[in-house]
Order: sequence, then structure tokens, then C-alpha cells
Amino acid sequence: MASLRSICTNDVVVFFLMSFFIQSDAQIRYSIPEEMRKGSLIGNVAQDLGLDLKRLRSGRARIVTGENVQYAELKTDKGTLVVNERIDREQLCGDVTPCSFTFEILLENPMELHPVTIEVLDVNDNAPTFQSKHLDFEISESATIGSRFVLESADDADVGVNGLKDYILTANTANDNFVLKQHLNPDGSRYIQMVLQNALDREKEPRLNLKLVAVDGGSPQRSGTVHINIVVLDANDNAPVFNQSIYKATVSESSSKGTDILTVNATDIDVDANGQVSYSFSKSKTSAAGFFEIQPSTGVIFVAKEIDFEKDKKFEFWIEAKDHGGLTDTCKVEIDIIDVNDNAPVINVMSFSSPVSEDSPVGTTIGIINVKDLDSGENGQVRNYYALVTNAPLDRESVSEFNITVIASDSGKPPLSVKKTFNLKISDVNDNAPVFTRALYSATITENNSPGLSVLSVVAKDPDENQNARVSYILEECDIGGSPVSGYISVNSDNGVISAARSFDYEQTKQCLCVIKAQDGGSPPLSSNVTVKILVQDQNDNGPQMVPRSADVGYLVTKVVAVDVDSGQNAWLSYKLQKAADRALFEVGLQNGEIRTIRQVTDKDAVKQRLAVIVEDNGQPSRSATVIVNVVVADSFPEVMSEFTDFTHDKEYNDNLTFYLVLALAVVSFLFITCVVVIISVKIYRWRQSRVLYHSNLPVIPYYPPRYSDTLGTATLPHVYNYDTCRTTDSRKSDIKYMQPMSQSLVSVDDVGTESALNGQQRSTASTLVTSHFTNCK
Ligand SMILES: *[C@@H]1O[C@H](CO)[C@@H](O)[C@H](O)[C@H]1NC(C)=O
Ligand SMILES: *[C@@H]1O[C@H](CO)[C@@H](O)[C@H](O)[C@H]1NC(C)=O
Ligand SMILES: *[C@@H]1O[C@H](CO)[C@@H](O)[C@H](O)[C@H]1NC(C)=O
Ligand SMILES: *[C@@H]1O[C@H](CO)[C@@H](O)[C@H](O)[C@H]1NC(C)=O
Repeated sequence: MASLRSICTNDVVVFFLMSFFIQSDAQIRYSIPEEMRKGSLIGNVAQDLGLDLKRLRSGRARIVTGENVQYAELKTDKGTLVVNERIDREQLCGDVTPCSFTFEILLENPMELHPVTIEVLDVNDNAPTFQSKHLDFEISESATIGSRFVLESADDADVGVNGLKDYILTANTANDNFVLKQHLNPDGSRYIQMVLQNALDREKEPRLNLKLVAVDGGSPQRSGTVHINIVVLDANDNAPVFNQSIYKATVSESSSKGTDILTVNATDIDVDANGQVSYSFSKSKTSAAGFFEIQPSTGVIFVAKEIDFEKDKKFEFWIEAKDHGGLTDTCKVEIDIIDVNDNAPVINVMSFSSPVSEDSPVGTTIGIINVKDLDSGENGQVRNYYALVTNAPLDRESVSEFNITVIASDSGKPPLSVKKTFNLKISDVNDNAPVFTRALYSATITENNSPGLSVLSVVAKDPDENQNARVSYILEECDIGGSPVSGYISVNSDNGVISAARSFDYEQTKQCLCVIKAQDGGSPPLSSNVTVKILVQDQNDNGPQMVPRSADVGYLVTKVVAVDVDSGQNAWLSYKLQKAADRALFEVGLQNGEIRTIRQVTDKDAVKQRLAVIVEDNGQPSRSATVIVNVVVADSFPEVMSEFTDFTHDKEYNDNLTFYLVLALAVVSFLFITCVVVIISVKIYRWRQSRVLYHSNLPVIPYYPPRYSDTLGTATLPHVYNYDTCRTTDSRKSDIKYMQPMSQSLVSVDDVGTESALNGQQRSTASTLVTSHFTNCK
């Protein structure tokens, strides 16, 4: 009889035992979970098969299986099946469900074969797994929203609820850039995608770390994770940005080329080329105009050209920063230039009056100057207009010019200055009268002077200049013995030389007092007076010609000879007596110049006779010369000598000794010359017999002055030349005429041109006895 038992253990279900086939087998089926421990009870087969333990032993019950691996073991002593090997459902069946394996329990004597099926139930012993540990992505930050990125699927060896159930995408940080999308393949498998739902920003998050978690449905739930590393690739989505919108700097105008001024700084948060900034002047740059340059890579702005504060006080320009992707930013740069004291003040002359009159009052404005300084502030601090005024009276006579130096300096450090010199001339005003160099002028003049003879000169000085100092000398009228003084002397108005206007005669005029006025040319003129005293000195007028009182009518006293270097009519000379004390006594030969008596000498006749012989030529106009001849009427030679001493008596020779020496010398000379004259006369007589000049039986000693020659016409002797100047009394008008020199007068000529010449002249008179003076006047 077959019995059916049902054994229920924890997990084991014994279905039934069939004894319908005696030889055949009752099939037993157990269900056990996988992964039970070795020795774990699977089921009590003895009981389930209805076999007692003796039968099992006697029948040598054992498990037969075709497999290599025997998962179960039969414990014959207890009649139980226990786990012999770890049973891994996934290994045994993979995805196949349900999963079971079968073996037989074999009994002998009689042989019985009982199949046993053991179903292995799944246990969630496998987590979902990903093939890779990491998933790496490089995604441009410019990736568009909706972009999909396929992710790797996970596997779960478990089946059923223990199999893969879901995916979860997590991020370390709050990340909402990506969402997960799962799709079911037609074969039932799933693939998953990461979809970009919010744009990436490399600049915010250059890397994203996500986790993809796969979970199964088992309990406890198992999961598998894969790390997703996303590198966000840069896109040029950021322009450079200056860290300031306006940069301000100051720079001194003296800064040399290359001086760094400031650095502009723009940053681009992009990387690499997208973040590399280069700087340049913006196209709209204005006043910088080459004064500055910028280093493209660093943004350093430096001086490129000399700056002049006086031209540009401030620069404003724009700088552009550009990344290599072409995005730009601009900033403004303002550079203030600092003044340096590099300009000296400049002096401009607005007006300057030179010369200025010396009588200008104190406070007179001489000039107005304007001072400018191109610098500013302290460096240019100079006041503007200045007037140059006098602060003291001017006097040209003490200071005739001023060099006025004006120095303008600014207040810079160091100060700069400029100098300008003005030459101020003081113009003259007629404020000084001429002043004579002496309070009184006196001079002596020897009588018988030639008219026009310079007597002395007066000098007046005027410290003014030019016309104001141009002194004219004027003879003030004053009387001399009733006749006007101008008849006696004249003054050269230009040089103050006082000349005799006539031949003085001591016997008539002893002295001449007059006032000379010096007057300058100013307007009005200033003048001053000086007194001039001219003393007339007596002169031994001439060496006398002796005429004996007993002389007959026609007695030849002497002969004057004149020569004229002209020829023909112009040299045709005629002699006349110009002045004689007694006209009746002497006459002069018109042609030959012989002076003869024309009547008998009487007692009434003066002892001393003075004859002025004038010789005139026949020229047109006629020229003339005068000679003075002194004649002594005496009885004897000693008388002559006494007369002679008379001439010299009032002279300075009071010394008797000197006088006698001179007298002796005169006598010796007289005798010697007489001899010579006689010899010469004899010779001439023989040579010119036809011309007997005289015949006398009287004891007359013809007397000739030294160097006198009784020759006519062509004969010449060594002479003293006399160049005299004749002046009109009106010679102030500078009407000066120079005389033709009387080149070869035959009569010795005394030179009384100067006061001091008197002594010498006196001596020569003593030796010659005859002195003649020709003055060639026109
Ligand atoms: C630019 O400015 C930023 C901050 O303003 C600074 O960190 C950086 O170093 C500057 N760059 C240069 C080149 O000076
Ligand atoms: C901008 O950059 C410049 C240069 O590096 C720096 O001198 C300046 O201080 C910065 N300005 C600011 C506001 O950071
Ligand atoms: C003024 O300067 C000029 C030119 O240098 C010079 O010739 C003159 O002598 C100076 N005058 C005075 C008074 O210093
Ligand atoms: C100079 O003298 C004249 C007359 O002799 C007189 O009229 C005049 O006033 C005098 N002048 C001076 C400055 O003394």
C-alpha cells in the first residue's frame, strides 16, 4: 500500500510518495534557498520515502547523480538529506527560473530508485554591478540643454524581485545640471541616459562628480554605484573684465621715456586662449597721441614721448582688453601731468623809453615790463606787470647811462630766473653854464705885433653835451680909450683864441681890459663871463737906421726889398710909405724900395723915426706886406748906440754885465757885418756897373741887417719863413683865410707870435739892429 505523507518543515515541502510502482520510485521534491550552509538539512528522505533506517542501511542507500558536483549528501543513519556543497542559484541556473536540480537515491536488495528534485530558491545575494568603476565625460560648457549622454547599465545576477530595479543619479554637490532618463529596450533590457537640463558653467564648476546608483528589489535592497566624472570644457563665454572702470594716475612732466605710469588689469575667467587678455589702445583714443604706450600682455602703461605740462595738463583715453576669442572690455584712463619747474620766467618789454631827460621828476616811468612763466602754481608764480620808475633825481653829468638789470625768478624748487638788462641813457638838459678854467686871463703882447696875432686863448668848459656844451666865445663890448674894443682884439668864437685885431702901439695903448662871454648852444643858452687883461709891452721896435743930422736931401737911409714868387704883373712890386712919424722927412722909392731923406734933417725931427713900408704887388686882387723900419737921426754912432740902449732900457735886461756883454757882441757883430757888406757891395758894384745905387761922400756907414743882401729880383738869401694868419675883426664867424706864405722875404722876420718868444726876439734884435716884419694880408 502506498502511503502518502506530507512533511512540512520550515522550508521543505515534501510533496508525496507514490508506491504505485514497486520497483519504481517515489519522487520527492524539496525547495531550499540557495546559499545554505554545508550540513544544513534539506529534508528527511527516509521518512518521506517511508523507509526505515534498517532498510536504508541494508539497501546501502546512496545518491547517484550525473553531475560532478554533489550538492546534497544522504545521511543514512538519520535518513536525512543535508547540503553538501554551497548551492549558488545564479551559478546553477543563471537567469532561468525556477531553478532546480535532480538526483536519485538508489537502494539495493531490492533495488529501488527514488528521484529527488531540489528546487533552489533565489536569495538576494547579488547587488547590481557596473562594469566600470568610473565613467568619464568631457562636456563643453556650451553644450546645449537636452544633450544626452548614454550611461552604462548595471547588471544584477539575482532574478525576480532581487533583480535590478532602478537607477538613481546623485551628485556630491547640489547639482541639477543632469537628469536621468531610462528607456526600455524591446528585449526588455534598459538603457539609461543622462540629459543636460541646466547649462554647464565651467567657470562655476569646472568638474562635476556624479554617482549613478543601481538598486535591486530585494530585501534587503542591494545597490551598485558608478562614479561619473564630468570635466566641463571651456568655451569662450566670458569677456575680459577690468578690475576698475577708471584708472587714474599722475606723472611728472619730466618723466623720461619708458617710465611706467600704471597697470590696467583685466581678467578673463575663461582658460587658456579664451582667457588670455591682451591690451591695446581703444580705437577711440583721443589725446594720448603717442605720448603713452601699453604693453599688450601686461597692461603696463608707460611714457613713450616727452610730455610737456605746458601743452597738455591731462590725458584721457580708453584701453581695450581682448581675449583670444575676440571678446573685449574697455576702461578709461586719466593721467594728470604734474608740473615741473622747467620754464624760466620770460620778461617782455611792453615799453621802454630811452633816453630819458635828466630833468625828469622822481617817479617818472621809464618802462613797463611784463613777466610770464609758463609753469603753473608755485613754479609759475610771478606777478604780471611792472613799471620801472625813477626814485631819485637824474643827473646826466654825474651818471650818463644806467644798466638796469631786471631779474625775474619764480618760486619753484629750485627757482628759475631770467635776467634782462636795460640800457637807459640820460639825455642832456642845458643845466650847466660854461665855466672858464681861470677866473682871470692875462697876457702880454709886444707892441708892433702883426694884426691877427694870437695873444692867448680862453677856455670854458661845459659839462653838458652836444649843443648844450658847444661853447661860443663872445667879446663883450667895452671901451678902450673911447674906441670900441673890437678894434683892438677879436675872439675866435669857436676856440676862444684871442687875437690882436691891429698892431698895438705901446705908446698909445698900454693895456686892454675886456670881458669875454662864454655861451653854450642850449635853449635857452647859459653863459658866464671872464675878464681878460692884455698888457702891451714896449718894444725896441726896430733896429734903427742911423741918419746923420747933416744928411743931405736924398740921403739913402736903407733899402727894403721884397720878392713875390708870382711872375709877371703879379710880381710887379711897388713900395709905399704907410706910416711915418713925419711924412716930410722920408720917402720910399716906388720901384726900388730905397728910403731916402727928402729934406734936410732939423732939430725938430724926432730922434726915433718909425717908418712903415708897405709893398704891394700888381695882382688882381693885389696882395701886400708891411715892414717897419726904425730910423734914428743922430749926430754920431755913439748916439746911435745910446738910442739903441734906449730901446732896450725898459726891458728885462737890468743886469749891467749882461748888457755890456751884449753890447760888445753887437759892436763886434756890427763891424764884422759891415765889412762883409762892404765886400759884397764892392763885388756887386763891379758886377753891375750900370747900376750905381748911391754915391756918397758922407761919413755914412751903410748899415744892413744880417742876412740882408742888396740884391734885386732873383737873388735870394736864406730866410725865416713867416706864415701869418690875418683875421678880420669879425673872425668869430670863422671867416678864416690863410695867407699865402711870403716865401722869400729878404728881410729877416721876427717872430713875436708868442708871449714867451719875447726874450729870444729881444736878443736877436740886439744882434741885428734891423727887424722887419712882413705880414702878408689880404
Ligand atoms: C589684477 O587684479 C587682480 C585683483 O584685482 C589681482 O588678483 C591680479 O593679480 C591682478 N593682476 C595683475 C597682473 O596685476
Ligand atoms: C586692479 O589691478 C591693478 C593692477 O594689478 C591693481 O593695482 C589695482 O589695485 C586693482 N584694483 C582693484 C580695485 O582691485
Ligand atoms: C652798460 O652795458 C654796456 C654793454 O654791456 C657797456 O658797454 C656799458 O659800459 C655799460 N654801462 C655802464 C654804466 O655800466
Ligand atoms: C657878463 O657881462 C655882461 C656885460 O659885461 C653883462 O651884461 C652880463 O650880465 C654878464 N653876465 C654874467 C653871467 O655875469
